[in-house]
Amino acid sequence: MVTTPAAPTHEHLDALLSARGRNAPAAAITDPRSSANYISFIYGFPDRQSLPNSTVIEATQHALEKHGDWALQYGKTTGVAELVNVLLAKLRRDQHFVAGPENLMITAGGSQALQLVLDLLVDPGDVVIAEAPTWMGFIDALNNVGGRLVTVPLDSSGLDTDALEATLDQLAAEGTPPKFIYVISNFQNPSGISTTAERRKRIAELAAAHGTLVLEDDAYHDLRFEGDHIPSIYSLDRAGYTLYLGTLSKIMGAGMRIGWLLGPETIIQRIAQLKIDGGTNIFGSFVAAEWIPDHLDEHIETLKAIYGKRRDLMIESLERHMPQGTSWTTPEGGFFIWLTIPESVDTRLMLPHARERGVEYLPGETCYTDGRGKNQIRLAFSFAEDERIDEGLRILGEVIRGELLESSGNWRPA
Ligand SMILES: Cc1ncc(COP(=O)(O)O)c(C=O)c1O
Repeated sequence: MVTTPAAPTHEHLDALLSARGRNAPAAAITDPRSSANYISFIYGFPDRQSLPNSTVIEATQHALEKHGDWALQYGKTTGVAELVNVLLAKLRRDQHFVAGPENLMITAGGSQALQLVLDLLVDPGDVVIAEAPTWMGFIDALNNVGGRLVTVPLDSSGLDTDALEATLDQLAAEGTPPKFIYVISNFQNPSGISTTAERRKRIAELAAAHGTLVLEDDAYHDLRFEGDHIPSIYSLDRAGYTLYLGTLSKIMGAGMRIGWLLGPETIIQRIAQLKIDGGTNIFGSFVAAEWIPDHLDEHIETLKAIYGKRRDLMIESLERHMPQGTSWTTPEGGFFIWLTIPESVDTRLMLPHARERGVEYLPGETCYTDGRGKNQIRLAFSFAEDERIDEGLRILGEVIRGELLESSGNWRPA
């Protein structure tokens, strides 16, 4: 007979937990497979049909033929040299980064790069500045280390640098300077907004003047389907106060779990001391190093066409189906549109109603830490199929109208 050992009771477990374990927020456990049951606008999952399965099979074969004995071995903590070199060449070509292997670390997605930066810099109670709204993954990761979030608003030109300056001054006066400023410079998650070049330059200057660091998260950099590239904070920073994070998740495959962190050698070395995993996804790194030179550029062009078309479909359908008093951003790239609806609706409470009708989205409140965003929604247009977008937004429009009618006797649908 097979017996399962008894699980410890809650009281036993509580006594064993660290402060971090005890205080960990109830983060959503995301599963793209369950989102496939909905017309899903909830998470930034890449488009399923465009994942480059067949070329990855070829690259895997080549990687094993060439490097079989090393591809299935432990690897260097900072990353497989072949992949480091391929990524550096791309970053130099596309973004004119001046960086060598000593400046780059391969990580398990951009998420691990972020976690390592937090581990390196943040003790419980330490302040970190971010945009409001910001990526919920960052909010959760900061909570996990006990950091305190201080936010700076965004407007249509990106992070408000006057507000940043005032916040930095105030924190300095209070004796709680921030450990770093977290900025998603392109097609921000969740707003879709990009920060202008002038403001990027100013962010770098302010960080240097205040002796703090910038963590520039550029997860969506390559997915610009409209307008010109804007130089990154990393390349505008003359004083070396910026760390830069990128990922293969949105341009090759999120299942690769490969990202990177760029920064001054001293910081990369320190982070390497904290990273005790025997190297990040060595096998996948060899595969990616084979795949990128042959396929990445062409694949990015394909993705830009797919996501650009999807953004257009979204905007057309929003215009068709959203009630009066609703506004939204129009991103030039990336995965997200940020929707603001009349204030009487609580989008977290509305989500189950939308799900009952087969549609899901991310409630805006998850992108703040202070209860704001109740009447906002992040719509990811990356995962829903073209043919279902209009239907999904028609249903969402109806659900919002229903809530508005319920919440106000005076409100009349447009
Ligand atoms: C702004 C931002 N940064 C980082 C990431 C990290 O992604 P990954 O860990 O898959 O590289 C994401 C993913 O959704 C993101 O939206």
